Amino acid sequence: MNKTSRLPGFYKLPIIERLKILKELAELTDEEVGLLLNTGSLPIDLADRMIENVIGVFHLPFAIATNFLINEKDYLVPMVIEEPSVVAAASNAAKMVRQGGGFKASTTPPIMIGQIQLVGVKDLEEAKETIIGEKDKILEIANEKDPLLVKLGGGAKDLEVRTINSIKGSMLIVHLLVDVRDAMGANIVNTMAEAVAPYIEKITGGRVYLRIVSNLAVKRLARAECIVPKEVLGGEEVVDAILYAYAFAAADPYRAATHNKGIMNGVIAVALATGNDTRALEAGAHAYAALSGKYLPLSTWEKTKEGNLKGCLEMPIAVGIVGGATRSNPLAKVALKILGVKTANELAEVMVSVGLANNLAALKALATEGIQKGHMKLHARNIAIAAGAKGKLIDIIVERMIKEGKIRLDRAKEILDELTKSG
Ligand code: MEV
Repeated sequence: MNKTSRLPGFYKLPIIERLKILKELAELTDEEVGLLLNTGSLPIDLADRMIENVIGVFHLPFAIATNFLINEKDYLVPMVIEEPSVVAAASNAAKMVRQGGGFKASTTPPIMIGQIQLVGVKDLEEAKETIIGEKDKILEIANEKDPLLVKLGGGAKDLEVRTINSIKGSMLIVHLLVDVRDAMGANIVNTMAEAVAPYIEKITGGRVYLRIVSNLAVKRLARAECIVPKEVLGGEEVVDAILYAYAFAAADPYRAATHNKGIMNGVIAVALATGNDTRALEAGAHAYAALSGKYLPLSTWEKTKEGNLKGCLEMPIAVGIVGGATRSNPLAKVALKILGVKTANELAEVMVSVGLANNLAALKALATEGIQKGHMKLHARNIAIAAGAKGKLIDIIVERMIKEGKIRLDRAKEILDELTKSG
């Protein structure tokens, strides 16, 4: 998408009006708009082929976060989530970051790790050398499993051998490093790990047990940075307040867990919308946060010499734009089209930026007015709409209920009555 993602007032429009705008910006077909409107977009027979023992289809709201400028490109970001305020928070934070030039995001190549557990070898050092000496042959066996991936520039590229001490004694762990290109990659890596295992057993005389991808994808990192001008945040005191919030998280795992949860609000919502594996992302993120031996916040925040706020988020993001539900779920396809990403790495760059945006929004709210005020506004809006208010009346009723501290359906109805009678 090369059009703007700045859509002021988008949140106030009825769904049908939002869809009209989106249809034009993302060049959606009538059929794709139909899928978004239809709560039965995942046909039951397709659901039945995706997992086992299917008894229905479970729905969640699908929204668009606005204002995202990442590496000088505008993105409308699809998010699927049950929690109120997350989409609004991402859009608000992206608007602030935009005023500092937008997000700068990058990724390492999409290298996933396949682990092969080797036990029962007599001499660990000798076995390790044998495996390293046979590297080319092992990579060749792995690559025979996916010639198309190799043709696309991916495939098994390298291997590492680690010795670990366990309650069952020392063992060798072979890491097969596979460039999975635009796939999430778990299937490819598992297939390759299983394929090379018999050869590893043959050359070492050992016994292989596990052959499986590692979700601690340290070789597949995504990174986003942003600078928010202090004036946009409300002054240098707010910058300092956010730095106190960060210091808290950096010193205390109880806070760091919640800090990181706020980041995952954004990351997971985009992962769900695009049909990606959210559990793999959560596992990777939290293991990465604890890699130093202490559970830490995934993001860092500091003050620039001009007094502005600078944030950085680095984390493993193993996602795909081909394979699995990214292609089989019709709405995931629409989400990817709206985003307009060309590679899995570009998707990861968007996701890490959204994670940083949600983190910024949470820290700003928590360090200043608290998060309940924003929540209340949204809650009040829902109540006003449920009471039957439309258009400008919604905002008037919301303001009145918040001012009175009475956010209730009966009060919303009363105010609506009053307003419609007075004309
Ligand atoms: C709520 O979903 C997320 C927050 O708790 C994150 C945080 O505390 O940083 C607001």
